[in-house]
Amino acid sequence: MRLLITGASGLLGLNLALEARNMHQVVGVDRCQLTSVPFEMVCTDLLERGAVDRVLDTAQPDWLIHCAALANLEACEADPELARCLNASLPGDLAAACKVRGVKIVHISTDSVFDGIKSDLYTEEDVPNPLSLYAETKLQGEQAVLSANPDAIVARVNFYGFSLNGKRSLAEFFVNNLSAGEPIKGFTDLTFNPTFVGDLADLLLRMLAKDLRGVYHTVSADVMSKYSFGVMLARRFGWDESLISPESVDRSGLTARRAHNLGLSVHKLFTALGGPIPAFSTGLDRFYSQFQQGYPQKIRSYQ
Ligand SMILES: NC(=O)c1ccc[n+]([C@@H]2O[C@H](COP(=O)([O-])OP(=O)(O)OC[C@H]3O[C@@H](n4cnc5c(N)ncnc54)[C@H](OP(=O)(O)O)[C@@H]3O)[C@@H](O)[C@H]2O)c1
Repeated sequence: MRLLITGASGLLGLNLALEARNMHQVVGVDRCQLTSVPFEMVCTDLLERGAVDRVLDTAQPDWLIHCAALANLEACEADPELARCLNASLPGDLAAACKVRGVKIVHISTDSVFDGIKSDLYTEEDVPNPLSLYAETKLQGEQAVLSANPDAIVARVNFYGFSLNGKRSLAEFFVNNLSAGEPIKGFTDLTFNPTFVGDLADLLLRMLAKDLRGVYHTVSADVMSKYSFGVMLARRFGWDESLISPESVDRSGLTARRAHNLGLSVHKLFTALGGPIPAFSTGLDRFYSQFQQGYPQKIRSYQ
């Protein structure tokens, strides 16, 4: 298949493109950040007039995975208009343009659409209640996609991996500090399903191959706090876990509100795929193997 990936310089987009190129013809879109990547690139600002149609007509994809977004919560609070354009409007425009052309679209959304007050796992049936501007605009993006194109897949995700600038993911925060022996804090009151980005890439490609439609929680099956995630990572890498001290997010000074319990049920995805959802431990093993094999250096060389 010919697969178009927006946000190809981002944490998800770049890892997804590198993985997908083993099975598919990949075309990435970014704003000219990437150099000498082993897949085709289109360099454009997707917010420019006519860019959506131009990119689709140039790339001629069968599938589109839309990863581009303003994904930083504090950046959304600082620039609400940009957040609305990128996270709420653009996804709907892409979904409509894909529908006209018969292109299957996966829109990447977030676990943050929920308010995090449920004591159990969130299912796709639960009603979202976003707490931050980021979450609100991401929810509006979901709604715009599904109203323009009911055949679209909306994948709610949360993931970690190595990124272009080496600082994009929570796992890199732990790797960079623990490897240098630096003490850090880990939030005990934020829970999530940490998903290795390579596992997420595999899931997204399986969902496309199965021609799913609608909203899916697309994460690993295991739920833990951000603090526990750091501790597990430290153990896997053989670093000193006592460098991580437990902390409450309410004392962090972060401007955007965070939802506390974002554990997602993967039952719907498990049933739809008819097969296993990657476990946290196998994802962490893959992340560790990448570290040992120099993947962080390789990925940074694409800047
Ligand atoms: N990171 C997480 O754990 C997480 C959790 C939940 C959901 N998500 C969602 O997952 C998706 C991917 O997130 P990420 O962490 O990979 O994002 P990221 O690393 O911040 O990357 C964002 C991407 O969007 C591109 N982009 C931004 N504005 C653009 C524009 N006007 N035109 C074209 N491209 C533009 C950027 O390109 P440039 O490099 O050219 O700026 C970059 O490639 C997002 O939808 C995000 O909301 C992420």
